[in-house]
Amino acid sequence: MRIPIRNTESSYGLISQLFHWLIVALILFQYTWAWRIDQAEGFRLRLELVTQHKTIGMLVLLLAVLRLGWRVFNRPPELPASMEVWERRAAQAGHALLYVLIFAVPLSGWLYSSAAGLGEYWWGPVTLPGLIESSERLEEVFGLTHQVLAISLGVLAVIHMLAALRHHFFKGDDVLRRMLPLWRGK
Ligand code: HEM
Ligand code: HEM
Repeated sequence: MRIPIRNTESSYGLISQLFHWLIVALILFQYTWAWRIDQAEGFRLRLELVTQHKTIGMLVLLLAVLRLGWRVFNRPPELPASMEVWERRAAQAGHALLYVLIFAVPLSGWLYSSAAGLGEYWWGPVTLPGLIESSERLEEVFGLTHQVLAISLGVLAVIHMLAALRHHFFKGDDVLRRMLPLWRGK
């Protein structure tokens, strides 16, 4: 059985699928970590959890860059012909917005940390610089921005998931299957 590496006309290839599900898993992790940070007591534990949250968040940003690069040279499969015009528009707009948010959420987090004076930090052998000077006012602005964008990403992702399930269970097409590994396409 050969799994196509690149997207085909009828299915996402292995690389696109890996990017998709890896980013989904990391984003889920981020929400559970944000919740743990909220519950955490004690400065040391909080700092440890926030550092892990930043490390995984920066990994999402890196994967988003690689994913978008891969996407540029890999057209996604065509949407099923049975889809109405409004459904196509909604799917395309939703996907575009999800792409924007997987950049904007980690970037706003990075700006938030930078404004808080904690922008610079280690990521394995790499040191990432703070993006802006520390400032209490900007810390507040980017903190709120990060929160609002993260919530928007969560809401949109749930709508997107429900749309995928609707395709599978109510419309009976291959839209969900073609994002699943091991499905070869017709
Ligand atoms: C996909 C990536 C990310 C997601 C989904 C995400 C999500 C969240 C959420 C839901 C919160 C809680 C919001 C609140 O109640 O204020 C939060 C807080 C935070 N995030 Fe992120 N984040 C991501 C990436 C990042 C990155 C890359 C950084 C920094 C480099 C970062 C830094 C922070 C900080 C400093 C907090 C505040 C923690 C605290 O309460 O002390 N985030 N994030
Ligand atoms: C944080 C969560 C998620 C994000 C950021 C996300 C993002 C995306 C993006 C950007 C695309 C378009 C792919 C492209 O054109 O390159 C896509 C496609 C897709 N996603 Fe997600 N997704 C998430 C969660 C989910 C979940 C939970 C499901 C499953 C139920 C799902 C199912 C799908 C399917 C089936 C497609 C293919 C749609 C098509 O064939 O046009 N996604 N996703």
